[in-house]
This record gives sequence, C-alpha cells and structure tokens, in this order.
Amino acid sequence: MSKVFVCDHPLIQHKLTYIRDKNTTTKDFRELVDEVATLMAYEITRDIPLERIEVETPVQKAECKIISGRMLGLIPILRAGLGMVDGILKLLPAAKVGHVGLYRDPETLQPVEYYVKLPTDVQERELIVIDPMLATGGSANAAIDVLKKRNCNQIKLMCLIAAPEGVRAVQEAHPDVDIYVAAVDEYLNDHGYIVPGLGDAGDRLFGTK
Ligand code: PRP
Ligand code: URA
Repeated sequence: MSKVFVCDHPLIQHKLTYIRDKNTTTKDFRELVDEVATLMAYEITRDIPLERIEVETPVQKAECKIISGRMLGLIPILRAGLGMVDGILKLLPAAKVGHVGLYRDPETLQPVEYYVKLPTDVQERELIVIDPMLATGGSANAAIDVLKKRNCNQIKLMCLIAAPEGVRAVQEAHPDVDIYVAAVDEYLNDHGYIVPGLGDAGDRLFGTK
C-alpha cells in the first residue's frame, strides 16, 4: 500500500486557506498555488539521496554533501497541473517536464485523454505527477497509467487537495505510488467536487468560466 503524506507545514496550511477562499482573485490564487507548490517540492524531495564530495573552504578541505545526479521529471495533468510547475522548478530546475492532457467528462466524471507529450527518456526518470485536485482519482490514475504503459516505475503524485475517495482509488490502482497532499478534505459532492475544496482549480487558475 502506498503512503499518503500530508504536508502540514504552517506556511503551506496558511496559503492553502487563501487558495480555498472564493474571494481570492485569480492573480493571488495563481501566486499562492505557485508558492505552495514550491513548499511542497521541499517536502517531496526530503528522501532524495545525497553523495559526498570534497570542497575547500577558506579554512580547510571538507567533505560535504550534494544531491546525487538524479534524473527527475514533472508530469502536470493539463490544465490545472500547469499552475504548480514553475513553483516546483524553482527547487528542481533541471527536471524535464512532460504533459498529460485530460479533462473530466462532466456527466460520467471519467477522464478523457487529449494530449500526451513526454521526455524521450521518461522511463529512466523519477516522476512527479502534478495536479491540484485529487477528486475521484480517475484523472490521476489515468495519467499514471499513461506513464506505466511507457515502462515508468518511479512515480509520486503531488496534489493540493484530495478527497478520501480519490486517495483510496489511487492506492488501489497504484499501490507503488506515494501521494503528497496539503490536505485531505471531507468528501465528494454529487457533482464530483471536493468538499470543502476550492472549487474548480483550472477555472480559478486561468480565470475561465
Ligand atoms: C480537474 C482537476 C483534475 C481532475 C480531478 O481537472 O484538475 O485533473 O479534475 O478530478 P478526478 O480526480 O475526479 O479525475 P478538469 O477535468 O476540471 O480539467 P481542467 O484542469 O482542464 O480544468
Ligand atoms: N476538479 C476540480 O477542479 N475541483 C474539484 O473539486 C474536483 C475536481
């Protein structure tokens, strides 16, 4: 069974409150999502391995640590996942970015795939699938399926807000994929929206609707 990490750092929780607030403007919403993505990237990289190198300080030689040459990939689910990419790239600037385009059919709530473009060496990379919302889990599962079909086997999922239903769906379908969230909310309503959630993440990020 995969693990669920709730990133409960006070800075993340503070910013998430304003992300949820319906009175937050599109500009502020976008900036806050970007900031929370950076803070969550700090948490999600907590286990990346270090190696030792020797450097010479002004005082003497010292054995110090640097991050091992890991190959990372960010996989935002279009559209709303795009809002978190730049924030993560601030900490992981060498990561490559692949895109999986999915939208949720409003009637069936099933994900519909419309675009996939991935780095050519994607199967060699440690991947972080990014989407602000994990509702039924259909979109996240479909994106992870896309990656696994291409022999990717080191995958994490990063979302701002999850419904318990979505967490369960991903854990059942992909028990090898750990999930990082800023909050697990109460439930999904009849329209498949997370309660209390933040509304429609894509619309709030891009000012559509
Ligand atoms: C939203 C969200 C997720 C999906 C979550 O995208 O960004 O991708 O819904 O729901 P699920 O867990 O039930 O699949 P949406 O389909 O609204 O597309 P958009 O990002 O283009 O607005
Ligand atoms: N997609 C969203 O953008 N918000 C939800 O609450 C559920 C799915």
